Amino acid sequence: MNTPKRYLITAALPYANGLKHIGHLAGAYLPADIYVRYLKAQKRDVVFVCGSDEHGTAIPIQATKEGTTAQAIIDKYHPIIEQNFKDLGIQFDIYHRTSDPLHHETAAEFFTNLEAKGDLETKTTEQYFDEASQTFLADRYIKGTCPNCAHKEAYGDQCEKCGKSLSPEELINPVSTLSGNTPIKKETTHWYLPLNKHEDFLREWILNDHAKDWRAAVVGQCKSWIDGGLQARAVTRDLDWGVKVPLASGAGKVLYVWFDAPIGYISATKQWALNTGKDWTPYWNDKETKLVHFIGKDNIVFHCIIFPIMLKLNGNILPENIPANEFMNLEGDKMSTSKGWSIEMDDYINKWIKKDNGGNGLADSLRFYLTAIAPESKDSEFTWKGFQESVNGELVSIFANFVNRTWVLMHKLCKGKVPPIHTDLLDDEDQAILISVKESKEKITELLELYKFREAQFEVINLARIGNQYMQKKEPWILAKQLDSDPTAQAKIDNCMHACLQLCANLAILMNPFLPFTSKKMCYMMKVVDKMLEWENAGGFNLLKVGYSLRPPELLFRKIEDEEIEAELTQLRSNLIAKKNTMDSNTPAANPSEPKDKSLKSEIVFDDFGKIDLRVGTIIEAKKVEKADKLLQLEVDLGTEKRTILSGIAMHFEPAAIIGKQVVVVANLAPRKMRGIESKGMILMAEDANGKLYFVQPSEAIAAGSTIS
Ligand code: MF3
Ligand code: ZN
Repeated sequence: MNTPKRYLITAALPYANGLKHIGHLAGAYLPADIYVRYLKAQKRDVVFVCGSDEHGTAIPIQATKEGTTAQAIIDKYHPIIEQNFKDLGIQFDIYHRTSDPLHHETAAEFFTNLEAKGDLETKTTEQYFDEASQTFLADRYIKGTCPNCAHKEAYGDQCEKCGKSLSPEELINPVSTLSGNTPIKKETTHWYLPLNKHEDFLREWILNDHAKDWRAAVVGQCKSWIDGGLQARAVTRDLDWGVKVPLASGAGKVLYVWFDAPIGYISATKQWALNTGKDWTPYWNDKETKLVHFIGKDNIVFHCIIFPIMLKLNGNILPENIPANEFMNLEGDKMSTSKGWSIEMDDYINKWIKKDNGGNGLADSLRFYLTAIAPESKDSEFTWKGFQESVNGELVSIFANFVNRTWVLMHKLCKGKVPPIHTDLLDDEDQAILISVKESKEKITELLELYKFREAQFEVINLARIGNQYMQKKEPWILAKQLDSDPTAQAKIDNCMHACLQLCANLAILMNPFLPFTSKKMCYMMKVVDKMLEWENAGGFNLLKVGYSLRPPELLFRKIEDEEIEAELTQLRSNLIAKKNTMDSNTPAANPSEPKDKSLKSEIVFDDFGKIDLRVGTIIEAKKVEKADKLLQLEVDLGTEKRTILSGIAMHFEPAAIIGKQVVVVANLAPRKMRGIESKGMILMAEDANGKLYFVQPSEAIAAGSTIS
């Protein structure tokens, strides 16, 4: 493989319309950061760009929600998100913003160039228009019934229930969310990028040239887009928030956010060059630049199909790879800030990192777990329990344990200095450990080059594990007791501790892309400058000089306690309920949330009803079911017997709060096993239009077991 002359690494520009969650972090920013740190340790010429995506309808929509202006929204979230990334060690060379004049200029110029070359087409079509507010309606401003799943709250661009992408025309009973009125159709002219004209190019470039080196899911998505038939895509919108169309005939129109946002990578590079006195042009124009886009899977079509066509037309280089990640779910459900089911980076930072005074490696603990479960080839699942197990089981008891033992023993048995090697006493195990380090470095390097960060990190932990085994075999603490009887004991201790220390130095280098704060701390302990972390130093056993005195050990990671995990789970559940309640009470009149369909089920006869045995029961115990966020396990007193019943109400009620409640039980329902627990019966609940649950109870407390008919 030829080493590229320079690299330009991008991570998807997050919308500055709210806090970003750890799923975003794991999807694009963390893997990009790992890759960049590795490249920089290789002393490659790299620029890592990112910034806020501040256009599109997401921003004004959030502004309406918060009762403020679009400008105020981006000015609020841009700095917070930027700081959040910093606190988690995501080290961009520039974090730019698309509201910057330099970006407006760059995007306008890009558009003008394509338009002047005749690469764009114009088309006049009828689009939805809201007469009350005299505006054309962006897709997101139209709601209606999904033609695919009949969900009544589908947006003009997508149904969030079934996930299908839609165009506003496909919605049944479209309604303007601005006025609540049915929109009319009105003619408007827009510029289009004819994707269809570039099908041959795409087939060749993606399905031929990159079928092997891109991730299968990425190639697969591209293939299905291309095979599905590419169409011209409008690149302008009737909107007043965005980059103005730089033509007289485009008055009142802006560039479509997905046209301007990726150009943000270019303007960010320009700004970086201005800040550092460099030339930005080769990064986008010279074929010897390797361009890599890190994104989540929802951005594939824009980065693999649309933006490359734009780049090709504009005479820029094309991306070498687009290692898109799948999604990371949270405790069994899709992560979503708006639904309250997510962990914001900001929350994690405030609750874990800041509370611990920035110490104890908690930024790296999160980085570690997110990489350990990185959704590189399929969706993955963040669970707090998993976080705890990963940190306690691998970081604390393998990695930190090895480093800490090495340091403690070196201070105790070698006077705090790097001990000499006694070559005459070196044995096979000492040789083997050196070979392990060299092999690990090779493997890790190869995996990183292939964007397999999960496996690469695993290899580093594995090397620490090998270190622990080596030390366990050598038992320097036993040798220390034989100093009087065995004249070679100290020399053997020296050899062992020397190897362990050199191994630690190697671990610092190899772990640095993943856990930069930790590696920095290790450098401090070793009294070496960061330059030691350069990749070429790994694989050697001469990183620390004999006789060099080292600092005392520092705590690298702390254990995550059960109570902390419990507290997070409780918090998550109450967030969900709180969000749901505010959503319900904030629903504006113009945007009525459709009540749930409560139409009657089909008619039954009395005998059908007579088959159901209903009894009054009393809840005597309630607890959460492990790994099932929605279930509570209840013990219910039915007078003559006690039953275990599983009920899907965990999101609505705290276990402690429902003990003693009387309930109506379907007592003759066939038992059903869920999560390995047999549920014998069912509790009846009432549900209002907002989805809030209520117990169905007798009007006064009565004896458990009483019948209902
Ligand atoms: N803001 C978009 C999102 O969050 C990503 C934009 S990536 C860019 O999905 F390339 F367009 F900048
Ligand atoms: Zn749908």
